[in-house]
Amino acid sequence: MIEFDDNLLTHVEEMDKQHMRLVELLNNVYELLKEGKKEEAIELFKREILSYVEYHLSEEEKFMEKIGYPELDQHRKVHELFRREIYHLAPYIEEGDPKAFREALSYAWGWLYNHITKTDKKYGIYVKEKGLI
Ligand SMILES: [Fe+2]
Ligand SMILES: [Fe+2]
Repeated sequence: MIEFDDNLLTHVEEMDKQHMRLVELLNNVYELLKEGKKEEAIELFKREILSYVEYHLSEEEKFMEKIGYPELDQHRKVHELFRREIYHLAPYIEEGDPKAFREALSYAWGWLYNHITKTDKKYGIYVKEKGLI
């Protein structure tokens, strides 16, 4: 199980809400795995997580556009890499091997944690400096 800690806050309310939702969805998948409900876990990952990740990345890009964020292009490129990575995980998930699936999940979470704490947080600082929120 993973926890949403203060390091993850960008202090942009809508983005924080979406990041929390991501954590919640990943935890739901872990929970199902723990209960031995492998098929349901895989289903949830495919049905909810992949689409929520896409929704979040595009909402975040729209938000950065709206605030005229100078690092948007760079940030968008990083999102693009993640989109590709997460789709690379699909075969492990399809395989249905719980160990591979767990590894794929922890990779996804590790990536997200790093991305939010290092890259996403920077637009939070920008917004604050410019007094945009
Ligand atoms: Fe984000
Ligand atoms: Fe991001």
